Amino acid sequence: MATEVWIAKRQHTCSMEDKILRHGAYLFLRLHVSKRAIAIPQLAQRYGLTNEFEADGRHPDRAIAFLRKVEAMAGNIDDRSLSHADAVVHVAAECADIVRAFCVEASEMFGPNVRIRSGVVRPTLYTGGAMQQFAYENQVRQQSGNTMPHVFLVPMCKTSEWWAKDWMERHTYFLPRYNWRGAKLKDGHALAAAPGIPHLYRRTYKHQVMPAPQGEYDFLNYFECADSGVPIFHEVCAALRDQRRNPEWHFVREGPTWRGHRASTWAELFD
Ligand code: HEM
Repeated sequence: MATEVWIAKRQHTCSMEDKILRHGAYLFLRLHVSKRAIAIPQLAQRYGLTNEFEADGRHPDRAIAFLRKVEAMAGNIDDRSLSHADAVVHVAAECADIVRAFCVEASEMFGPNVRIRSGVVRPTLYTGGAMQQFAYENQVRQQSGNTMPHVFLVPMCKTSEWWAKDWMERHTYFLPRYNWRGAKLKDGHALAAAPGIPHLYRRTYKHQVMPAPQGEYDFLNYFECADSGVPIFHEVCAALRDQRRNPEWHFVREGPTWRGHRASTWAELFD
């Protein structure tokens, strides 16, 4: 194949970056009892949002979730709007207008006590058929907040060195590396994280523009799990952060890891 044709084809493959499957936003809130009366439940009802707390193997099409802080662990990026957030409201829909309108109204209600970060779900970039089967087919689906009460938000950016790489080189970091004798040298992202597949419900929003502008995150990673999944979440993060096992993390800068509990209602955030 002529080089120009190959390059054109390669660029075409990457244009799947343009496709958006879903829109979502996290509202990081500073709470005070006086905020209890704020009409978030009415807003949710008006936009037809279903509470994710009731999920039973399927994430609602138009979703809202209420998350209460347990703790925040520092990352490389200092972000007080996240590490000091007492609660997080998540809102998601297939349609950008719903998420945007909800966020506009909520930010008018909360003023300086809210920081909103939004993102989009796009088709996977580095996942072929076999990886699809390995990493997604047996992954745990979203369950009720009673079954899987724990949440972790791990926002992050990748460095300019990462973004300077061709997508084919970036792709290699998601797979294990072997020498010519077949001995495994590195696990790579998917294998290092594999113990999490049956335990962690996971969702990643990407910034609408990649790489994200200064001060924004490239990725908003979110996880839910049962009590038994908490040590597995920590084990998976430790494996991903171990650059001897997963060299991809050399290019990662993490914001704070925010840990919380799923609340069944807005009012429960104040109990
Ligand atoms: C629980 C087990 C996990 C599995 C099986 C898994 C697997 C994968 C796979 C296969 C991809 C490639 C997606 C694509 O084709 O675009 C990916 C991307 C990604 N994963 Fe994971 N992952 C897991 C956990 C995690 C965790 C714990 C984090 C963060 C702390 C994380 C952060 C990301 C990010 C940010 C991307 C997008 C990277 C990019 O596009 O450069 N993953 N993951």
